[in-house]
Amino acid sequence: MVQKEMKNIVLTGFMGAGKTSVSAELARLTGFARVEVDEEIERAAGMTITEIFEKFGEPRFREMETAEIKKAASGKGAIISTGGGAVMREENTDAMRANGVIVYLRAGPATVLERTSRNSDRPLLKVEDPLEKINELLAMRRPYYERADIIVDTDLATPREVAKEILEKLQWERQG
Ligand code: S3P
Repeated sequence: MVQKEMKNIVLTGFMGAGKTSVSAELARLTGFARVEVDEEIERAAGMTITEIFEKFGEPRFREMETAEIKKAASGKGAIISTGGGAVMREENTDAMRANGVIVYLRAGPATVLERTSRNSDRPLLKVEDPLEKINELLAMRRPYYERADIIVDTDLATPREVAKEILEKLQWERQG
């Protein structure tokens, strides 16, 4: 399967929306390479996201995130999975849009809480009341997420179903 123009498919959405598992399915279905921006940041820094937040703070993390998004978005024909806060900087979304189609994986607060409580690698949610924090961040970010080209709900769908829906909405063509 190839996509017209070989644009990148850029996955955005809140923590726990399913970006990583959907990107794995998309890569499987398309044969495209996969770039996980959070992993690239960790590789470049030689430490985990949690350690970066602890040692350098969020502003420094955001600088590193922008650098890795620009690097990833400069290529073509890849599935790029971004961190939940990536849409908040215009230079990030400008870079994503230049070579790519932006997909918003939408998940409600209850889904986010359920999925993110399975592990402790989200420094922003290490607070007394994670649900309150999720609601607060979601309210702030929603208008930015909604600027995406395509929106897909993930609350009730499997990663494979979500990946297929994205490809249908992109009107992919099977070749050969
Ligand atoms: C963040 C989301 C995380 C990671 C960092 C900050 C956010 O990525 O980039 O912890 O601001 O929402 P995931 O969305 O992949 O969990």
